[in-house]
Amino acid sequence: MKLNTVERAIMNNPVRAAHQHRREAAWFRRMAGGDLSGQHVLEVGCGRGVGAEVILDRLGAARVTAFDLDESMVELARRRLHGRPVSLSVGDVCTIEQQSATVDTVVDFGIIHHVPAWQESIAEVARVLRPGGLLLFEEVPRRMIHSWAFKTFTVHPLENRFEAEEFAAELARHGLHGTARIEHHLAGMLFVGAARKN
Ligand SMILES: C[S@@+](CC[C@H](N)C(=O)[O-])C[C@H]1O[C@@H](n2cnc3c(N)ncnc32)[C@H](O)[C@@H]1O
Repeated sequence: MKLNTVERAIMNNPVRAAHQHRREAAWFRRMAGGDLSGQHVLEVGCGRGVGAEVILDRLGAARVTAFDLDESMVELARRRLHGRPVSLSVGDVCTIEQQSATVDTVVDFGIIHHVPAWQESIAEVARVLRPGGLLLFEEVPRRMIHSWAFKTFTVHPLENRFEAEEFAAELARHGLHGTARIEHHLAGMLFVGAARKN
């Protein structure tokens, strides 16, 4: 599901970019147990491309493949990431155009809660990760999506949402383990974690 105007403004601004570069990069580096140097990283739902910048510049990846459902977001990302080792396309996390077991790390900067059939996206992430590969995720729990502010100002699927433990259980069903260290941040607005493919 694409963002409405209010959420676009919340996501596409310098404060969020600074937060991703500083705090979120530090969370992910800690969760990954170090940086991602030399790795091929797939970013799902890349938005305007700040996440790919973070993955290259703060986490040390060698190259990034990234896609988003929204063509206008991909166009913003293309402009931002011109000349960087990033391959961008329009795509759906429920049908990832990537061969199975080929990706070192998948990064999800807050998109899976936008996907109506979110369980399908977990199955796809698990499919493309190589054995031993890593998923780093930042997600929004059901109680936030059902809050007055979210329901009033943003547009999200309301049915079939998840809390952190349900997200972790779905990952485990697809052979992605290690989510015991899920952390809640920003007064419970989001949770972050890491899981490794068997
Ligand atoms: C909350 S924004 C996050 C964007 C970016 N990751 C960031 O942190 O700035 C969610 C993004 O997910 C994208 N999206 C929603 N459903 C998607 C899907 N099924 N496949 C790929 N991208 C999707 C939206 O277009 C939007 O850019």
